[in-house]
Amino acid sequence: MSRFQTPPGTSDVLPEKAAERDRLEQTAKKILEKAGYGRIETPTFEFTELFARGVGEATDVVQKEMFNLEADSGTSYTLRPEGTAPVMRAYMEHGMHKLPQPVKLWYLSSYFRNETPQAHRYRQFSQLGIEAIGSPDPAVDAEVILLLAEILEAIGVRDVTLLLASLGQPESRAEYREELVAYLRAHEDQLSREVVDRIDLNPLRAFDSKDPRTREVMAKAPRLIDRLPQEDLDHFAEVQDLLQAAHLAYTVDTTLVRGLDYYTRTLFEFQSGQLGATQNALGGGGRYDGLAQALGGPPTPGIGWAAGVERMLSASTQPPPVEAPVDLFVAYHPEHKVAAFKLASDARRAGHSARLELAGRSVKGQLKQASRVRPRYVAIFTDEGVELRDRDGGEDKLVAPETVMHHIRGTL
Ligand code: HAM
Repeated sequence: MSRFQTPPGTSDVLPEKAAERDRLEQTAKKILEKAGYGRIETPTFEFTELFARGVGEATDVVQKEMFNLEADSGTSYTLRPEGTAPVMRAYMEHGMHKLPQPVKLWYLSSYFRNETPQAHRYRQFSQLGIEAIGSPDPAVDAEVILLLAEILEAIGVRDVTLLLASLGQPESRAEYREELVAYLRAHEDQLSREVVDRIDLNPLRAFDSKDPRTREVMAKAPRLIDRLPQEDLDHFAEVQDLLQAAHLAYTVDTTLVRGLDYYTRTLFEFQSGQLGATQNALGGGGRYDGLAQALGGPPTPGIGWAAGVERMLSASTQPPPVEAPVDLFVAYHPEHKVAAFKLASDARRAGHSARLELAGRSVKGQLKQASRVRPRYVAIFTDEGVELRDRDGGEDKLVAPETVMHHIRGTL
């Protein structure tokens, strides 16, 4: 072993895992593209200010978890911790408001957060995500939620719970926030230190506390849902009606808190018992009707979600993907190396999968390798010609080297 290892919170993706990721990506792509989503790729780093303004100065992500880079004499860039602010930036930068709305985009990339690594919590992780930008219609909310439910089911994730809430608009939230701050101040002596320290910065996070005494206080705290104006309640009710029409089970959780500041109205999270009790969020998202304005653009509604690829794979019950079958294995005595090499490359060029001895093994050793990969044909180059063995019950034959392709063509 060398003295280097992967940094904490990162990992290598070896071929077997890569095959699982590949299958997840193909499944998601099929489901999302059928629903009209086009793929978008944004840069791995952005101006730091995009996240400070978009995700919110008071969030843990911006306060503690950003990997910042410096370049261009003092300009600060940040390895993207999430994809929504970058996609909204791209929507505005490329004038996508001129396209038919909503514009539907999906992505699958690496994200970076400087968190303390633990089970299911990494410093580099992959997110599959979608954003539907340009329509406030509750049908968009229901559709995006259904798409994540469909993907989770298709990739074999079991034991899934969908939590749903509504945060309303910033104005009603501001009034509620004052009420909550007053309530927290009145109960300060029963709250955990961490919650007290954040009362002014982010009082809603108190609902997220794991501290038993804090939880007791929060059980009786005023709820945002009871303070929402009729318009927001109607929007939320329609989202629920549509989810029910689609037979998707959910639980309304009025204490649902997510760590990003841009959310308005619909908020949701998919959790799985397969992930244990703490980092059990497979994915989540919500509406962010104020994000475009926070980034200096015109009012633009939007909604989306992101789901952790590593977490989805951990919670998936699908068996590992089967390897594609090998059509031809080429073995040879050393003096026939060139002809053997040519056959393997001709076979690949003709669209077949072919393996060739590359480690100088004896013919016996090569045949042992062949039995491992279970090819349809084995071609052995000898002084007498090519011994062609058909593992699918066909006859073994001795053929001329230049006719091997002719013999296998049509049967593969
Ligand atoms: P998020 O809840 O911060 O939302 O992240 C979404 C998902 O990414 C989480 O549910 C989790 O599965 C995965 N994830 C997040 N952090 C880590 C980590 N450190 N290690 C492993 N997995 C992680 C967002 O990022 C929003 N941009 C989602 C969104 C899209 N909202 C609207 N549109």
